[in-house]
Amino acid sequence: MADTGPSPDGAGSPGEGRYGERVFRPDQGGEGDRIDLGALTYDDTTMARLRALGAGPGWTCLEVGAGTGTVARRLLEEAGVAEVLAVDRDVRFLAAHPVTGLTVLQADVTDDDFTPGPFRLVHARFVLMHLPSPQHMVARLSRLLAPGGVLVVSDAVDLTTASAPDTPYTRAVRAMWQGLRDTIGTDVTQVPRYPELLREAGLESVAAEIHVPPLQPGSPISRFWADTWERARGAMVGTGLVDDAQLDEAVRHLASPGCAGLSPGMLTAWGWKRDGRRTQV
Ligand SMILES: C[S@@+](CC[C@H](N)C(=O)[O-])C[C@H]1O[C@@H](n2cnc3c(N)ncnc32)[C@H](O)[C@@H]1O
Repeated sequence: MADTGPSPDGAGSPGEGRYGERVFRPDQGGEGDRIDLGALTYDDTTMARLRALGAGPGWTCLEVGAGTGTVARRLLEEAGVAEVLAVDRDVRFLAAHPVTGLTVLQADVTDDDFTPGPFRLVHARFVLMHLPSPQHMVARLSRLLAPGGVLVVSDAVDLTTASAPDTPYTRAVRAMWQGLRDTIGTDVTQVPRYPELLREAGLESVAAEIHVPPLQPGSPISRFWADTWERARGAMVGTGLVDDAQLDEAVRHLASPGCAGLSPGMLTAWGWKRDGRRTQV
């Protein structure tokens, strides 16, 4: 199967930049708060899935692209796992909230010498979509699993915007995906293929689910998109798909009671590394 070639939406080659450079700079005021709005939206869903997969006492865990560390801390404090290695290219938000059992590592997970582990759980949320080849990353992360371990990958999935009526909101979402692709290489078109990528990496009992949070005015997800669009404004307007006035209208629409758009959601896929000694769930 071909690696991540041109996007099926015909959007052309992804940009050469990287996450946190032209867009989502960690040193730009409030970036940690933006990541936390995403975490507030999705952490309960993520934790429910990780606990259903068995994450609990005795588990050693790797949190890839850990951001502000909300999942890493909840694994330790709620699920009671033994230890979490939280890795990020920029660890300023992680280092600000140390907890027992949490080890913080500044590293680029695409580097060939990034080979920690093995772990019972490897989890990456909203990270692979920003990296050049999710196929390559799924294969790499699966090699960090101990026998009987589980790889869990979550990323944004947008199943409705392309066919939805043209509104200020849908124009903004389309401009966001195109603008992020052009500037930092973000590509969500591969996300529905994650179960296939997990199987290709040799993992077993692969399954997946999708959660789409409702866009209610003032909700964490609505505030997340509004803040994301402000930070990505240059990239979005640069696509030619929206101008500043249309983007302002879309941000106002998000905060209004009349907002009836469907948010992109989160697809979570998981698969197990074979362990000859035990039955997987
Ligand atoms: C959208 S945030 C998601 C944070 C967290 N996983 C969450 O869901 O709340 C993406 C995170 O991945 C990190 N990241 C991006 N590329 C990375 C890389 N190549 N190596 C390590 N971390 C990376 C960023 O610094 C950022 O903290």
